[in-house]
Amino acid sequence: MVAVEEISLAELRQRTSAKWRTYPPDVLPLPVAEMDFPIAAPVAEALHAAIRRSDLGYASPNSGLAEALAGFAARRWGWQVDPAHVTLAPEVGVAVVEVLRLLVRPGDRVVVNPPVYDSFFPWIAEVGGRLVEVPLARTSDGWALHLDAMQAAFQAGARVHLLCSPHNPTGTVHRRHDLERLAALAARYGVTVLADEIHAPLVLPGRTHHPFVSVSPEAARHGMVFTSASKAWNLAGLKCAAIVTADAATRRLLQRLPEELPWRVGQLGVLGGIAAFRAGEPWLEEVLAVLDHHRHYLAELLAAKIPAMGYRPPDASYLAWLDCRALGLGDDPSAVFLAHGRVALSPGPSFGRPGAGHARLNMATSRRILAAAVDRMATAIDGTTADWSA
Ligand SMILES: Cc1ncc(COP(=O)(O)O)c(C=O)c1O
Repeated sequence: MVAVEEISLAELRQRTSAKWRTYPPDVLPLPVAEMDFPIAAPVAEALHAAIRRSDLGYASPNSGLAEALAGFAARRWGWQVDPAHVTLAPEVGVAVVEVLRLLVRPGDRVVVNPPVYDSFFPWIAEVGGRLVEVPLARTSDGWALHLDAMQAAFQAGARVHLLCSPHNPTGTVHRRHDLERLAALAARYGVTVLADEIHAPLVLPGRTHHPFVSVSPEAARHGMVFTSASKAWNLAGLKCAAIVTADAATRRLLQRLPEELPWRVGQLGVLGGIAAFRAGEPWLEEVLAVLDHHRHYLAELLAAKIPAMGYRPPDASYLAWLDCRALGLGDDPSAVFLAHGRVALSPGPSFGRPGAGHARLNMATSRRILAAAVDRMATAIDGTTADWSA
């Protein structure tokens, strides 16, 4: 079992990554998308072995990562990835920005679906793209792409759609028929769909991930997938991601990426990614079982302590999108939780306009920490400032 319950808060506080070093020590941090679980044993062994060999040079172009990813994609989703169609990049962020540079001239329209992963906004700004926001639609059971509004945005001259699939922060797993329709619209209006699928291995029981380029011939022609082992196996600091194409034209486009890109990929990221894709599934299954439990446990905690909080357990990943609007905490409830409860969540407004009155909580931690976080939030709402430094 991933023994997260056995890791104490004191041990976690020894970590030096962003999650644990952004806030003072009296703050319980649940923002940045990192997990508190110990990493998978095969990944740890691959990294230790590389250090034992002093094998820390540049990542080889023939590392085997593309084949490892193809094997994982076939087992997990029945998706046939041609390793020759895999292009490495240091991270999904760099990969998306570099592909946007190829597709977008300053002022060209790039569509996103807020509330959406906050880094999408600076990525588009970095290439001078003009942001077009088509919010997700609320459905009777969560959220979905608003395809009529997408059609209008595409018709109005969009060049690129930056799709988040599964969707951060709502944890939405897009339905196959929605992705098929999206692909048909992309084909009709000449839009390229960049599908950020970094959370895909973390789809929880009850839903199925559909890799975008696999849903239809139009999707294969007009899309590409961005992926990495970094989110599902908690290796974000190692810097290795992949772009997967499924068509000769998109592959030709990627041949125009900077020649230096593969040299910027981290060697440990490649080795960790290979171990994760080849041998990391048993660990992943354990993590998914814990997250499946946590998403429902959080619902129980909120029902007991903060019943006015809106929360729908996510269908993927470990991020809880909390609707605090009934609590009267203003546009950025995370500021109230931080100031009065000493618990750090991600600010809803950073995910775009529909994020006002919301906050995002990271559930990839222990039951104990989750319960403590909800206690702290409840205290903050009561308006009392507790002393949590003990
Ligand atoms: C949807 C999404 N894309 C990309 C990233 C970041 O990936 P990378 O570190 O590879 O840029 C995250 C991190 O949380 C994410 O949620």
